[in-house]
Amino acid sequence: MYIKSLTVDCYRNYNHQTARFSDKINFVVGRNAQGKTNLLEAVYLCSVGKSARTPRDKELIGYDKVRATVRLTACKAYGEDKVEISLFKNSPKRVSINGMPISRIGELMGVVSTVFFSPDEMRIVKESPADRRRFMDIALCQMSKTYFYLLTRYNKILLQRNKLLKSGSVTDDALDVWDMQLVEAGSKIIKTRRGFIANLSVVAGECHSYLTGGEERLELGYESIDGGTADEIKEAFVAQLKADRARDRLCGYTHSGPHKDDIAFKIADKDIRSFGSQGQQRTASLALKLAEVEIVGRRGEYPVLLLDDVLSELDISRQKRLISKIKNYQTIITCTHIDDELLRELSDYSCIYIENAIIKQ
Ligand SMILES: Nc1ncnc2c1ncn2[C@@H]1O[C@H](COP(=O)(O)OP(=O)(O)OP(=O)(O)O)[C@@H](O)[C@H]1O
Ligand SMILES: [Mg+2]
Repeated sequence: MYIKSLTVDCYRNYNHQTARFSDKINFVVGRNAQGKTNLLEAVYLCSVGKSARTPRDKELIGYDKVRATVRLTACKAYGEDKVEISLFKNSPKRVSINGMPISRIGELMGVVSTVFFSPDEMRIVKESPADRRRFMDIALCQMSKTYFYLLTRYNKILLQRNKLLKSGSVTDDALDVWDMQLVEAGSKIIKTRRGFIANLSVVAGECHSYLTGGEERLELGYESIDGGTADEIKEAFVAQLKADRARDRLCGYTHSGPHKDDIAFKIADKDIRSFGSQGQQRTASLALKLAEVEIVGRRGEYPVLLLDDVLSELDISRQKRLISKIKNYQTIITCTHIDDELLRELSDYSCIYIENAIIKQ
């Protein structure tokens, strides 16, 4: 799929602007603070229903404005899809797909499939397990609405179980009932994530070795409750909950389950979450995102790759490698300037220039 156009109204520093994109590489070029990242953020908003930079929708509305609207048209194998999102200062956002309002954000998942990468995404490798779980979940939710609803269900059950544990008055029998539900949803999440990370490890390893010119090989490991089949996972999860029950009661918190999962990142058997250099962590997180594009693309339609300010972080040889890797699907890439040497590598690209929130094509 590819994004044909995006219109922003009162969004961040924009008044009313439209950008048109080609189905290959699109450079969004401009000096600092002109609105490049804001444009990419608006695309991402239409994809997952929220910003990659802030959980607070209101921040996306232009200063002094009461409402912001973003409209996106995507071309897919079977036709066009239009997504419109309106954000309000004083009421919840409204989302519509092809003119039909949706009541659950789950319905937006997979309509405009994107993979977002910015230097900040390095936190997937170096920051907390929560960042790595968020990465897995955003990827999987876009691939499957079933996963989105499963995750929503699991989080609700978990919240309820923690509330009961905190109340201090819950009986073992009542907890058993909650545990059954937690295990039912949780083991499906674990099984899906395990399959995804196994796939990702192979493809991310290839992308990483390509980016580094074969110097290093990246491997991923999924850290969760043991078990390959659904039954094995269930059995292990039940046993773990039993073993943790006294501790759970004491702390008023559930200590085991997919909400504690993590992903290990290894190069030459060293865990780069703790021991990697900045460059290793950056290249690994970029390889991870490129692998995500490949995995989604091989299942159906290629998602749109959104790269924010990535070129400045790479030397020219890695820039060239990156560009040659992404030239066959749509990429929107922001930068302050493009090296002529890089442009010589490309036969098909387009440029969008942004100056003070005005788009020139
Ligand atoms: N809600 C808002 N209303 C109006 N302007 C905003 C809002 N939020 C951010 N801005 C402004 O939008 C401008 C452009 O921000 P953006 O992050 O898109 O810049 P950029 O072109 O990506 O720059 P850089 O190259 O430094 O990353 C900034 O000056 C920022 O202060
Ligand atoms: Mg920016």
